[in-house]
Amino acid sequence: MRKKIVAGNWKCNTTLQEGVQLAKSVNDLVAKEGAADVVVVLGTPFTHITSVVSAVDTNRIGVAAQNCAAEAKGAFTGEVSAAMVKSTGAEYVILGHSERREYYGETSAILNKKVALALENGLTPIYCCGEAFEVRNANTQNDFVKTQLDETIFTLSADDFKKIVIAYEPIWAIGTGVTASTEQAQEMLAFIRGLIAEKYGKEIAEETSILYGGSCNAKNAPELFAQPDIDGGLIGGASLKAEDFLAIINAY
Ligand code: PGA
Repeated sequence: MRKKIVAGNWKCNTTLQEGVQLAKSVNDLVAKEGAADVVVVLGTPFTHITSVVSAVDTNRIGVAAQNCAAEAKGAFTGEVSAAMVKSTGAEYVILGHSERREYYGETSAILNKKVALALENGLTPIYCCGEAFEVRNANTQNDFVKTQLDETIFTLSADDFKKIVIAYEPIWAIGTGVTASTEQAQEMLAFIRGLIAEKYGKEIAEETSILYGGSCNAKNAPELFAQPDIDGGLIGGASLKAEDFLAIINAY
């Protein structure tokens, strides 16, 4: 059975102290009331990872970096390698987020290097894809997302691909308060699962967790998560409040 996953993406928010407090609050709420069959992940800034790993029960809550370097190590000032991330106790890394692609020029070639290094170092990539408003408006979102996947994670061997979690995040829905409709989200996730089936076979497609992200919140999560192909969410804004995040975890 594929996993249900609710992952928070804190982005560039919270000081270390605020982040540790938030992690502790999530940890306590999840311990008391969190749906046992949902994998919970906190995507924190690099600076917070070690402290957050210490602050939570890591048997219950996984920690993710929001990026890693495209190089293994060396003279790359300011970069944080996949091996460094792994050595903090993080288990996941968010890669290919549209904000990284758009503001930091991350291309498919760069992302392929990051995914390879993440996998080599035993991290689970939460690999993001999704189209801009103009693409959706032109009704070419399926081709766009297919190309994003063909150029990157669909080049992996089946054994490596099985380690990937996919997050579909339409850019027009991220941080805008405009969620994709349940039908739009389900349709795209079913399309992605179909592509996986074509490429890697039905069994792997059925086992791959595919998340929806983009203005997902406590209110719309129950309907989204009730869809057959939506295996959870990548949550930005609503992951910054422990109670809201818990409600999303319990939205199945
Ligand atoms: P949002 O962000 O929930 O604030 O829209 C989601 C994301 O970018 O991961």
